[in-house]
Amino acid sequence: MTIILGLESSCDETAAALVTHDGRILAHRLATQEAEHRPYGGVVPELAARAHVEVLTPLVEGALADAGLKLADVDAIAATAGPGLIGGVMVGLVTGKALAHAAGKPLIAVNHLEGHALSPRLADRTLQFPYMLLLVSGGHCQLLLVRGVGDYARLATTIDDAAGEAFDKTAKLLGLGYPGGPAVEAAATRGNPHGVPLPRPLVGTAEPHFSFAGLKSAVMRAAQAGTHSVDDIAASFQQAAIDCLMDRTARQLRAHRDVTALVVAGGVAANQAIRGALAGLAAAYDLPFVAPPLWLCTDNGAMIAWAGAERFALGLTDGLDFAARPRWPL
Ligand code: KG4
Ligand code: ZN
Repeated sequence: MTIILGLESSCDETAAALVTHDGRILAHRLATQEAEHRPYGGVVPELAARAHVEVLTPLVEGALADAGLKLADVDAIAATAGPGLIGGVMVGLVTGKALAHAAGKPLIAVNHLEGHALSPRLADRTLQFPYMLLLVSGGHCQLLLVRGVGDYARLATTIDDAAGEAFDKTAKLLGLGYPGGPAVEAAATRGNPHGVPLPRPLVGTAEPHFSFAGLKSAVMRAAQAGTHSVDDIAASFQQAAIDCLMDRTARQLRAHRDVTALVVAGGVAANQAIRGALAGLAAAYDLPFVAPPLWLCTDNGAMIAWAGAERFALGLTDGLDFAARPRWPL
């Protein structure tokens, strides 16, 4: 049995997890910085980096204690090495390097996006390559053809905002607070999804990408007009976002008939309406729909440990000179 320690610190969650090569989660500790950033309505990079420094080592010690293990029992240490807020990424990566050096174990520098991309295989051990992945988070909105570990084809990306960013900005415009996604979803359940006419950027076009900036501007105009309720605007925004995600995803499912499943990952995958729509789309294409449990969709340590386990199984380790990367496309 191999055991991988995974560290995550690229945004506003700090996490440490222990995962085995066959996908057993032995421990997972997570600290969220939501309260620190709430007064500012978004993540403040300097505050985030300092908070990661304060909690990461206790989280590692806590995870080892939960699993009844010592650092010496771990086979490799995986740490997010990017992309993300560089201060936070450096905290996790340097901690990972120090632990790897102290314990004499290999380091695995994990791409945060690869963590999200492979997390469905931790949730469902029967999931086989290639699969169609919709990766929707605060920083990303991509359709990826996942052909194997380290073998990803990016079929579509956003030309402006990420899906989660659109939810966060809509929440801010509507005075719903931070973090925005869950607040918009809650308001949307009370509103009429067809109450406010909003655009569906790029839908039906030959262009494969996503775009949410025009939708956000239309939400701003609707909010300023003052003629619609907050709940109706939230519901109509969410419906427009869903229509965009479905149209773009369907386009790629038509072009890639050999995929084994439609898979969703990233923080926006916590949205029940989006999950429901994707499940319907998968059924229409006769494909299984795989969505990790909610806690595995948002940033966490288990997905980093698991991506580390998948890489370690292929002999892919990294040197202690691996530099943190603020940008790192898959
Ligand atoms: O993957 P994640 O935890 O962090 C990264 O961006 O890497 O995703 C966070 C994003 C935020 O933009 C948040 O508003 C969004 O996911 N989100 C949601 C929901 N829960 C979180 N968006 C829509 N509906 C939700 N229920
Ligand atoms: Zn993420």
